[in-house]
Amino acid sequence: MSDTDRQARLERYLAHHTDELSPLLRQLLEETERETGRSRWSIGKIEGRLLQMLIRLCGARRVVEVGTFTGFSALMIAEALPADGRLITCEIDLKVADIARKYFQESPYGDRIQLELGDALETLRRMDPQSVDVVFIDADKPAYGLYYDQALRILRPGGLVFVDNVLWKGKVLGPRITNENARPIAALNEKIRNDNRVEKVMLGIRDGVYLIRKKQEQERLSAD
Ligand SMILES: C[S@@+](CC[C@H](N)C(=O)[O-])C[C@H]1O[C@@H](n2cnc3c(N)ncnc32)[C@H](O)[C@@H]1O
Repeated sequence: MSDTDRQARLERYLAHHTDELSPLLRQLLEETERETGRSRWSIGKIEGRLLQMLIRLCGARRVVEVGTFTGFSALMIAEALPADGRLITCEIDLKVADIARKYFQESPYGDRIQLELGDALETLRRMDPQSVDVVFIDADKPAYGLYYDQALRILRPGGLVFVDNVLWKGKVLGPRITNENARPIAALNEKIRNDNRVEKVMLGIRDGVYLIRKKQEQERLSAD
């Protein structure tokens, strides 16, 4: 069996043993593929279920998403929030945001979502420090480092940053990194690795996920 076949079998096995998506989310993925040809940009079932589980485990009430696209991950996040929870999701492309808005209106969880149109960095800069429980970063890769800095600023101590695509199809591995997206991602991965303000673990699921927890003040002091 080739490596590709083995990987495909593994993906199917993982998906089979993970909770199914709602009919609305399946419909959204189908429309995303029809309208954009890029349903692969959505985090998909396994990563989405992981994000949901983490949101529930840390009792998150306020979540920020950088990169809405057509709203798949936003709806997964909203579903995992308590009824009075809030997701602020940032998108710069009005066309894909229209699809997202349509599905937010159809979803029973849509009223938990606030869609912010425009450059995500501007939206993040307007947010109060230490006001958020979870930040999910999944937008333009060259700006990842700036999103990370803002995420740590707006995150409460003990909060979580979830960064997608940190392996960039394996291109961050080097030794020479020439890809224009892999370079800033690799630089950020290194920065996070050396960041004593956070506890972190990198996972190899899909295109790579970095889970980063902002330490409490006490933890930082005892580590110094
Ligand atoms: C990979 S897609 C997000 C996928 C989505 N999180 C999901 O799983 O369904 C990245 C999105 O980030 C958006 N984006 C790129 N640059 C942006 C910026 N500066 N501000 C806000 N959104 C941006 C793109 O338009 C695109 O829709």
